[in-house]
Amino acid sequence: MEKILDLITEKMQKAFSDAGYDPAFSRVTVSNRPDLCEYQCNGALAAAKQYRCAPIQIAKAVAEKLDARDYDMVEAVMPGFLNLKLSGSFLQSYLERMRTAEDFGVEKTGTGKTIVVDYGGPNVAKPLHIGHLRSAIIGESLKRLYKFYGYHAIGDIHLGDWGLQMGLIIAELQRRQPELPYFDPDFTGEYPAQAPFTISELEEIYPTASARKKEDEAFAQQAHTATFELQQGRRGYRALWQHIMNISVADLKKNYDNLNVSFESWLGESDADPLIPAMVQDLKDRGLAVESEGAWVIPVAEDTDKKEVPPCILVKSDGSAIYATTDLATLIQRMRDFHPDKILYVTDKRQSLHFEQVFRAARKAGIVPETTALEHLGFGTMNGKDGKPFKTRDGGVMRLEQLVKEMTDFVRAKVVENQIVAEDAVEDTTRKIAMAALKYGDLSNQPTKDYIFDLDRFAAFEGNTGPYILYTIVRIKSILAKYGAWENLEIQEPANPFAKDLMIAITKFAPALEGALAASAPNLICAYIYELAGCVNKFYHETRILGEEDQNKQAGYIALIGLAKDVLEQCIDILGFSAPEKM
Ligand code: ARG
Repeated sequence: MEKILDLITEKMQKAFSDAGYDPAFSRVTVSNRPDLCEYQCNGALAAAKQYRCAPIQIAKAVAEKLDARDYDMVEAVMPGFLNLKLSGSFLQSYLERMRTAEDFGVEKTGTGKTIVVDYGGPNVAKPLHIGHLRSAIIGESLKRLYKFYGYHAIGDIHLGDWGLQMGLIIAELQRRQPELPYFDPDFTGEYPAQAPFTISELEEIYPTASARKKEDEAFAQQAHTATFELQQGRRGYRALWQHIMNISVADLKKNYDNLNVSFESWLGESDADPLIPAMVQDLKDRGLAVESEGAWVIPVAEDTDKKEVPPCILVKSDGSAIYATTDLATLIQRMRDFHPDKILYVTDKRQSLHFEQVFRAARKAGIVPETTALEHLGFGTMNGKDGKPFKTRDGGVMRLEQLVKEMTDFVRAKVVENQIVAEDAVEDTTRKIAMAALKYGDLSNQPTKDYIFDLDRFAAFEGNTGPYILYTIVRIKSILAKYGAWENLEIQEPANPFAKDLMIAITKFAPALEGALAASAPNLICAYIYELAGCVNKFYHETRILGEEDQNKQAGYIALIGLAKDVLEQCIDILGFSAPEKM
């Protein structure tokens, strides 16, 4: 279904034509003087130059041709603006169409298209930390937005499951338990089904090994050898790797589940690894990779570069593949398996240069055709109140689990203290409010900007916060529950100015989502629902809804807030959180 501005513009085009003017001048915009009108058209000013007459003359002639039933007010004002206020019947029929259409009539522009969203990047055997939080929150919401538009959207976790970190764990384990069969090169039997470590042991083993590597040269060498042998396919090491993966992945799933984040694809760097040798050989054969100080690189600088873009390193001088190599090979796998129309990476913006190099190399090598878009959304840092990257109280790196726990504990205390819900609903309500606080706190900022994590502010029930949005939804739900069956009630013409403002706010749903999709900017959805929630609350305060005696009128109010609730819930679902029944 058409967006409301397109619809009004179309009507304006007809009026321009009917008045004898070029319809190209008829673009309508939301008014920048809401005190005067709701929409405006400034086309007469531009048209006046072409027709060599006074703009007001054109504006007046066009105003004459507009269908009076569509407007409460049409005004041609000096020097030649057309100011418009929509009629109640126009809004009524538009919203009624929105209400009855599937997904509020949004045009499914992504049908038949595939997008891969890469927004995980956790490293196995290492706990998730807050660096992974923004990726998960922003990536999940963009993936959901693409799905809403009909795309086949594949969230790919792209596990960091290869390379030296694995060798370090293997070497450290061998130091501790050399008797395990995994280290015996002559062992030909079946390896134990049970892993020789738990997740908490694993999370201790890695940092210990990593620290040892720095002090102990021999150990570092062992870790490198173990990495190499693992990659060559040494049986015992592969079996250990599988144990590490099973335990880590289960733990990662649990953590992402807690965040209401999920992935369609659980592939990792290890899946791209087998593609690397042939890829490198091919790039060398075609002369795209060149030797430079013992390394193999793909030059990617372009004449138009304002900053230096160094070559993309493929193979280091010691023969090993690196981060960019894996990302290139992963592109081969994604093109082969998913045939995507677009691949979107959501990572820290400090990785921008890396992706620029990888994208250019992929284009140059023909790994990704021009018909597949490549986009890197680099997000800013989450800072503490001191403006520095967020840390634990003792200055350590904050684990994601801990951050979620702090938010949850804070919210639970409020829920319990204010006796918001019965005891058996405390946990579920707490979880939903905490998620809203955390995610909205993040998503309401422009992704590329840094922001300050502020528990008190994010969890407040008033202001531009997730809990405020939930509160608005819950308020409507409670009115609807008291009213009874409401789902089939029809939208009516606005009964007061607050109803009209609310109706106009609802019509901005499609443009808000479309803007968010085009700019990879969930913050536009947040801004939209904040405005919408404001209109709902204003309407609620100014209108007797349940006390209204005229039943027909009341049904109209209920239909309107019901639609507002559905739209709000659709939006928060895209943002990745949901509302409780009470709060
Ligand atoms: N594992 C990487 C890290 O921890 C992030 C991976 C991001 N995705 C990608 N395709 N490079 O830094």
